[in-house]
Amino acid sequence: MKSNEHNRQFIDGFRHSAPYIHAHRGRTFVLVFGGEAVEDAHFPELIHDIALLHSLGIQLVLVHGARPQIERKLSAGGIEMEYARGLRITDDAALVCVKEAAGSVRVEIEALLSMGLANTPMSGARIGVSSGNFVTARPLGVRDGIDYCHTGEVRRIDGAAIRQHLADRRIVLLSPLGYSPTGEVFNLSAEEVATATAIELQADKLVLLNEGEKLRDGRRRLIAQLTINEAQALLDGRRQLSETMHRQLHSAIQACRGSVRRVHLLDRQQDGALLLELFTRDGLGSLITADPFEGLRDATIDDVGGVLELITPLEQQGVLVRRSRELLEMEIGHFLVIERDGTIIACAALYPGDKRTQAELACLAVHDDYRNEGRGDALLQAVEHRAVRNGIKQLVVLTTHTAHWFRERGFLPGDLSHLPARKKALYNYQRNSKVFYKALG
Ligand SMILES: CC(C)(COP(=O)(O)OP(=O)(O)OC[C@H]1O[C@@H](n2cnc3c(N)ncnc32)[C@H](O)[C@@H]1OP(=O)(O)O)[C@@H](O)C(=O)NCCC(=O)NCCS
Repeated sequence: MKSNEHNRQFIDGFRHSAPYIHAHRGRTFVLVFGGEAVEDAHFPELIHDIALLHSLGIQLVLVHGARPQIERKLSAGGIEMEYARGLRITDDAALVCVKEAAGSVRVEIEALLSMGLANTPMSGARIGVSSGNFVTARPLGVRDGIDYCHTGEVRRIDGAAIRQHLADRRIVLLSPLGYSPTGEVFNLSAEEVATATAIELQADKLVLLNEGEKLRDGRRRLIAQLTINEAQALLDGRRQLSETMHRQLHSAIQACRGSVRRVHLLDRQQDGALLLELFTRDGLGSLITADPFEGLRDATIDDVGGVLELITPLEQQGVLVRRSRELLEMEIGHFLVIERDGTIIACAALYPGDKRTQAELACLAVHDDYRNEGRGDALLQAVEHRAVRNGIKQLVVLTTHTAHWFRERGFLPGDLSHLPARKKALYNYQRNSKVFYKALG
């Protein structure tokens, strides 16, 4: 019994994550974590999860911080670190500590990655790591009369070189250091390096890991998703945000404006947080998206949650046929969606029929608040375009409530013989749906 349950859980979990694995393969993710993560006894687990992402074909750039390590070195040397306007002033003595601390953190990460996926059947798989002079920096200089010495800012990221290493299936590891064409070393913020790199690479995701922080609304609920404008409103608002959250939101907005599609803010302290965030629908962190205000596009695996939210009430009213989450995850590739300010407000799906020239239009839905403004029409048109492109000659639809809407758009009443065999077998007579079809030119 126990083992049956275990099998069930495994099967459910595997089916659930398979579409995400498929969607992420070949994508580029930039991950940044602080020096605190490296000191944590559970750091090998995070590295293990990162190695797993690598083995699934995700191209990874890791950026590490080294703040606690730097601070320890400074205090061991009796050196006081000075800050001005929240920024570290790196004098000559401090720079020595920064170089030593960043260097040893990097070595530690390289060593752990060299273990690859130890204690798993993939333990032999070797993971190549590349570090190097990918970041060019310039000094912050003198601001308001304060000389920041060796504290710098990113001037340029060598995207071509990083891409080359990623294409060679290597993980690229960046430290919070940059070099100038004059041969100087500058102390940088890891988040700035990660953000600039994600923008330069036009990465699919930037993941900002933090130490036990979550973005919450006024009622302490996790803010799971927000747009650039909402993120900016949080920054400008009256609510007190922690320094980390402030910085990470700022980086997220900058990355989104630089065309990085998705930025995740994630508490890395929860075991498996990274895997849950990337391979399950709900995730654990906050997702900031750069999507335009409203647009019609092909759905991706990241839209499953939004589509479910849209169609569940219609399923409950019996207007749409019920679809399980798992099914929707498997079939999301058939869907088109309209997204408005980060929310899915309409969707439609085109399923292949059994004949190559026939397809079924299904799950057409527009959110209540957005009806009668032509979105249904726009989706139908997009579905028809997609169908014609795929050589479809006949579109079939089953409906209980919307017969006239389809008739007014050129659909003719049909019968069960128009349905694909798969659908015939499932046809629920009690629903008493009507069949309509339309010939596509
Ligand atoms: C049908 C639906 C997708 C239309 O979306 P929409 O964006 O409002 O559609 P449009 O703006 O392109 O068209 C609006 C027109 O359709 C008409 N219309 C809307 N629902 C209708 C229905 N059930 N029957 C007949 N006409 C309908 C509206 O009255 C309007 O026409 P008008 O301007 O002449 O009054 C939307 O109403 C919906 O989501 N319904 C629930 C889900 C559903 O029934 N899906 C079909 C199952 S496959």
